[in-house]
Amino acid sequence: MSPVIDVHTHVVPPGWPDLGAPGDPWLRMDSTTAATIMLGDREFRQITDACWNADTRLADMDADGVDVQVVLPTPVFFGYDRVPADAARIAAIFNDLTLDITAQAPDRLLPFCQVPLQDLEAAVAELDRCIANGHQGVEIGNHVGDRDLDDEAVLSFLMHCADHDVPVFVHPWDMTSASRTDRWMLEWLVGMPAETHLSLLHLALSGAFDRLPTRLRLGFAHGGGSFAYWAGRADNAWHQRRDLVGADSEHPPSAYAERVYVDSVVFTETALRVLLDVHGNDRIVLGSDYPYPLGERPAGALVRAAEVSSDVREQILTGNALRFLGEGPALPRGTR
Ligand code: CO
Repeated sequence: MSPVIDVHTHVVPPGWPDLGAPGDPWLRMDSTTAATIMLGDREFRQITDACWNADTRLADMDADGVDVQVVLPTPVFFGYDRVPADAARIAAIFNDLTLDITAQAPDRLLPFCQVPLQDLEAAVAELDRCIANGHQGVEIGNHVGDRDLDDEAVLSFLMHCADHDVPVFVHPWDMTSASRTDRWMLEWLVGMPAETHLSLLHLALSGAFDRLPTRLRLGFAHGGGSFAYWAGRADNAWHQRRDLVGADSEHPPSAYAERVYVDSVVFTETALRVLLDVHGNDRIVLGSDYPYPLGERPAGALVRAAEVSSDVREQILTGNALRFLGEGPALPRGTR
């Protein structure tokens, strides 16, 4: 049996408490099956019980032909702008409540934790606590304020993850907002792919990929954002105008594409083809962004319909995710 594994889904625990600070996310329960994520008195997003009800998730997974979900935090709950002690408490509450949900189907719902990434010591402590408690990996935001993934403390955290064989999924969040991105969900349609593109270029051009161990398993949401499509532009700049670009890396940006996993939630076969060409057949993993409104339903529809060989399809739906997840997860017996 080759389990179909969706590495990009989100959770919101219904027991999330109102922590009381201005602008903090809290949950307004609108009915038994619907809620609204509130930021202070502003509505951020309406959600359904797919975010927290394991039975609803499992029924949707069965309908979509998905055997296993990686269950990621919802980035608006990261708390990266809080003092470390508060952020550590926020992460611990979120992570522990998530386990209550995933424990209902431990062989099908694999929890990833969040950490207070703004403080290395606190982030490492929460990661270690969560891995000991059953989390299978960690999701991090693609930046902490003005610090990007090439920040020294963030790199130390990533090295800790490599040393402890913990997969890391990078999710864009906290998009730059301006009046020009304030409508049509442009922060999601343009901002998110741009954020992910930025973070991959920070890792490449800073030389961070040269320092990070190749055994580090890094995944990026939304097909790695705009990176693959524009890898040629970045490579051209690196080759032709190092005088202007000033890159510190040993190789051009596209050389590092094979160091990361990217998910398949890109909606067109043309885009999927670019990902396969740039990152390689062994680096694309099924992701859906379930259950959020801009995600793919049924999960995996693009990959199942794409004109790729059955071997490549199996890699995307199963094999690559197994390598990304490593030996840790309690996947159904006989799948490794
Ligand atoms: Co997502």
